Amino acid sequence: MTHRRDLVITIDGPAGAGKGTVATLLARRLGYRLLDTGATYRAAALSVMRAGIAVDDVPALGRHLGQIDIRVVDGRVFLDGRDVSGEIRSQEISQLTSRLSAVRVVREKVTPIQRQEAAGGGVVLEGRDTGTVVCPDADVKFYLTATLDARACRRFDELVAQGSAVTLDAVRAEVAARDAQDANRELAPLRRALDAIEVDTTALNPAEVVDTMAQVVEQRRAERRAIVTACESR
Ligand code: DC
Repeated sequence: MTHRRDLVITIDGPAGAGKGTVATLLARRLGYRLLDTGATYRAAALSVMRAGIAVDDVPALGRHLGQIDIRVVDGRVFLDGRDVSGEIRSQEISQLTSRLSAVRVVREKVTPIQRQEAAGGGVVLEGRDTGTVVCPDADVKFYLTATLDARACRRFDELVAQGSAVTLDAVRAEVAARDAQDANRELAPLRRALDAIEVDTTALNPAEVVDTMAQVVEQRRAERRAIVTACESR
C-alpha cells in the first residue's frame, strides 16, 4: 500500500476573507501548488459571457460547457488554450460567476477539473466548497471569516490597486450580494465543513493568519510522517 506524503489543504470562506492572499503565502511556504477554484468558475463565466448565453438557458449552457477547455497551469487559468487570468477579475465577471456557480451543469463541468488538479496531494485549494464537496477527505481544512466591513475594505483596496473606479459602498453591496448568493444556493453552498478550523481574519494581517495555519499543517505533517513510518516498518 502506498501513502500520499504530501497533504491536500483546503481553505474556504466568503469573498474578501483573505483566502487568496493566505492560500498563496501558505502554498509558497510549504512548497505546494495552489489551486484557486474560483478562477476556474470565472473562466467558465467568461466563456459563457462571450458566447452570449443567458444564465437560465441551461440546455445552451450545457452544450457550450461541453465544448470548452479549462486548465490551470502554474497558477494561471487557461480557457481554450489562452491565458485569461487577468480578464476574469472584473466586477462584471465576479457577479456573473456567482450566479453561474449556482447552476448544476456549471459545477458538474468545473468540480472534476479541480479534483483532478488536487489528486496526488501537495496542493492548497481555495474556494467555497473545497473542503465540503471538491475534497471532503482533505488532510487539513480551514474556514476563513471576517466581518462584512473588513471584507469590503479589502476588496475595495484590491480593485483600486487594479485601477477600477469604484466606491466603497458599491463594493460593500457587491460583496454582500455575493455572500447571499453563495451561501443560500442549493448546490454546494458556502459553509464551513464540520472538521474545518475556523480562523477569523478581521484583526489579523496575512502573515499572522499564515503562521497560525502553518502550525496546524506542520502538526498534521508530523502525525502523517509518524503513521507512514509505523506502516512501513511493519
Ligand atoms: O473566490 P472568487 O471570488 O474568485 O469566486 C468567484 C465566484 O465563484 C464566487 O462568487 C463563488 C464561486 N465559487 C464557487 O461557487 N465555488 C468555489 N469553490 C469557488 C468559487
